[in-house]
Amino acid sequence: MLEYKVCKPEIEQYIELRKRVGFFDLTYEQAKRSLDNAIITETVYDGERLVGMGRLIGDGAVICYVQDMMVDPDYQGRNIGHRILSSLTAYAAGLVLPGTKMLLGLMSVSGTEGFYEKCGFIKRPSGRWGAGLTKVLDNGYVEHKGDNND
Ligand SMILES: CC(C)(COP(=O)(O)OP(=O)(O)OC[C@H]1O[C@@H](n2cnc3c(N)ncnc32)[C@H](O)[C@@H]1OP(=O)(O)O)[C@@H](O)C(=O)NCCC(=O)NCCS
Repeated sequence: MLEYKVCKPEIEQYIELRKRVGFFDLTYEQAKRSLDNAIITETVYDGERLVGMGRLIGDGAVICYVQDMMVDPDYQGRNIGHRILSSLTAYAAGLVLPGTKMLLGLMSVSGTEGFYEKCGFIKRPSGRWGAGLTKVLDNGYVEHKGDNND
């Protein structure tokens, strides 16, 4: 049975899940810092095995981002991702200060936009919303085959 939890996963399991979905490699120290600095991390386990997760990062007042939205390929298409994303969105909504608004953003992997649109995200650029942009800041990272920038 799958178990949905709000918790930081084991660092090794996080690194491994990123590998399984084709995200770029993290060092242990890098993975630890990224997990430590998230606002909240939603995880899904099958027994001891981490099979899905997503993180919320940001300032909790003006802007938050969904990051590391991933479901193990063996478990995709079972609504796990949707449930994680809905939960992160609900948590972010609960942070919005009275009388204010906050933006919830993300950078999607090519081809996954539809997944986010099902949860109410607007694909950019659109109307008054400009494009999302990315700059890779590299300090000696060695690219390898199949690497992407997610
Ligand atoms: C993208 C990802 C998180 C989706 O998780 P999932 O658990 O497989 O998706 P779900 O089963 O919750 O799908 C929910 C809905 O989104 C749709 N959907 C899922 N992946 C989609 C995609 N790539 N494009 C368009 N729609 C998609 C599903 O068909 C489903 O629609 P329905 O409610 O009409 O049936 C998962 O495929 C994944 O981890 N991919 C590899 C890593 C990745 O690219 N992550 C995104 C980083 S930006």
